[in-house]
Amino acid sequence: MKILTLETTCDETAAAVVTDKLEVLSAVVASQDELHQRFGGVVPEIASRAHVERILPVIDEALRKANLKLADLDAVAVATTPGLAGSLLVGLTAAKALCVAHRLPLVAIDHLQGHIYACRIASGEEVFPCVGMIVSGGHSSLYRCQTAVDFEPLGGTIDDAAGEAFDKVASMLGLPYPGGPAIQAAAAAGSPQAYPLPRPLLNDTSRLDFSFSGLKTAVRYQIARPGTGEIDPSALSQQQISDLAASFQEAVVDCLVGKAELALQQTGLERLCVGGGVAANARFRERIDEMAKRCGVRLYIPPLALCTDNAVMGAIAVERLKRGLIAPLDIDVTPGLVRN
Ligand code: KG4
Ligand code: ZN
Repeated sequence: MKILTLETTCDETAAAVVTDKLEVLSAVVASQDELHQRFGGVVPEIASRAHVERILPVIDEALRKANLKLADLDAVAVATTPGLAGSLLVGLTAAKALCVAHRLPLVAIDHLQGHIYACRIASGEEVFPCVGMIVSGGHSSLYRCQTAVDFEPLGGTIDDAAGEAFDKVASMLGLPYPGGPAIQAAAAAGSPQAYPLPRPLLNDTSRLDFSFSGLKTAVRYQIARPGTGEIDPSALSQQQISDLAASFQEAVVDCLVGKAELALQQTGLERLCVGGGVAANARFRERIDEMAKRCGVRLYIPPLALCTDNAVMGAIAVERLKRGLIAPLDIDVTPGLVRN
């Protein structure tokens, strides 16, 4: 079977063609980073308009690279939740139109389950059951993943997501959007011990939750003018920026790795699958790998291009098709963030 997969949950317009054997025949991602950069974050209306302009060229490109025509497809899959309402609608509308015109089954996929399934695709191995950890711009969540489509929430952020905190702290430091890669680059020349920052909820072993908004505020008060909350990134030296970036990154990584370890201990599961944009972070990858080895757990973490948003992870459609989970053509998007 050949499946066209679409991804438009946030600010990447992506399409891929995959097979039921999980072969990737093509993968295209049109990033909108440059459109949102001057605002320091994703502007939803700009994102949905850009998806409208890009979705058809991106689909064409995915088919061209796979050397296929629409008539060669067996199904169309699209992420319908979670995400920005307008962005999700563009992908779903395109998918429905293709399904109606070519009489194809529509598969509605969950973007978060897709992030974990990227581990299955990248490794070529069975990865379930596992602890699934999603660390992205909108989510920082832990799940017991019994199968590819059967997730039980264990915990998650009670305020900001890890990626969101990276983006907001980057903006405070005068670094560009998306903040994750910019903070990682700045941190390379900094000391993680330079600034004492909190590790919220890390020592609370009664819960598998995260909280990053206080950490973000703690960074602000390291650099705010005395007596005010105001900050001026241009007053910071390069060394201060690097030290703040390194100290912040280390605090986030401590929280993420600590709770992942706790989830493994509490569930007794022996596999850990990690997905989402923050899983592209080099320090996070180093530390989570160290932890998995120490705990004797098998770690699955996709290559960078499959950590950030992409359509290849839409191959999770194969699991839904196997179970006969075809979406009706009147299905709607389910926007928003998942907060367990
Ligand atoms: O999974 P993703 O592409 O989109 C969502 O579903 O949210 O994640 C985007 C997030 C952004 O917040 C971005 O700053 C972060 O992932 N990110 C990183 C890195 N690369 C992307 N965070 C830390 N270090 C990175 N290298
Ligand atoms: Zn994502």
